[in-house]
Amino acid sequence: MIVEILAADSMGARSMATCVEAGGHLFLIDPGVALGPLRYGLPPHRAEFEAKDRLWRRIEDRARSADFIIVTHYHHDHYNPDRPDIFFGKVVILKDWKRNINKNQAKRASLLLEQIRGKAKEIVVADGNELEIDGVKLIFSPAQPHGYSNRLGCVVQVLFSFGGKRFLFTSDIQGVCLREHADFIISATPDVVFMDGAPTYLLPTKFPKARLEEAFANLTCVMESLRDTTFVVDHHTTRDEHYRRWFELYKLDFKTAAEFMGFENMFLEAWRKKLYKDEVRLLGD
Ligand SMILES: [Fe+2]
Ligand SMILES: [Fe+2]
Repeated sequence: MIVEILAADSMGARSMATCVEAGGHLFLIDPGVALGPLRYGLPPHRAEFEAKDRLWRRIEDRARSADFIIVTHYHHDHYNPDRPDIFFGKVVILKDWKRNINKNQAKRASLLLEQIRGKAKEIVVADGNELEIDGVKLIFSPAQPHGYSNRLGCVVQVLFSFGGKRFLFTSDIQGVCLREHADFIISATPDVVFMDGAPTYLLPTKFPKARLEEAFANLTCVMESLRDTTFVVDHHTTRDEHYRRWFELYKLDFKTAAEFMGFENMFLEAWRKKLYKDEVRLLGD
């Protein structure tokens, strides 16, 4: 099984797009990339638009050879509403669009379905489903809250199992906020897990400190239960330039998606203020 993280916040734009090659098939998970709106009161920098385009081209390229595409929820950093064509001719496995979904995501889901019905090879509901494709086992979690509550809707986690190896993609759980997130990860016993980490950049108004402490307590428990697992933590976490401080506080070790793939970290959203400042400095030189 080959796991390739195509795009992530540590690579320059919001995404968790990942490709899994196993059993002669290519599975593409969450083919989307987006930019954070205002950060520090600033719109995305030119460097972020460039990164987004570069990452999208990578996703688009892999989508051509994929035969299965998975969408874990309907946020635009997880699929591209302007490019339904990438789903045409593929088996599309979607977060349930009727159950455990909020209004905003239900609306987006029905639009996507309208665009791909009759054009995708097949459309399958992901939630709680188990599929076996030429020896590749896919196990989807039931719908789980996007963070500590389902205010932002729900996501599904997906476990790939093939040739004795296991890879888990958690989607946007925002740092093992709840016991149900932790239980699924621990019972999956993955060799590698690509996880959405806690959004420390939203402290304290949009993410209460008590919730963050719970998330780190849960993550500690998960890491202690899975000592041989490689942890890749990214997405909400790497929007905070100082994310390492939090993990050091709890003595937790992991790689970012960029580090896992052997690239330099490019926390462009977290660096936005600096990117604009450097530009002003350049103009003033
Ligand atoms: Fe999300
Ligand atoms: Fe996301």
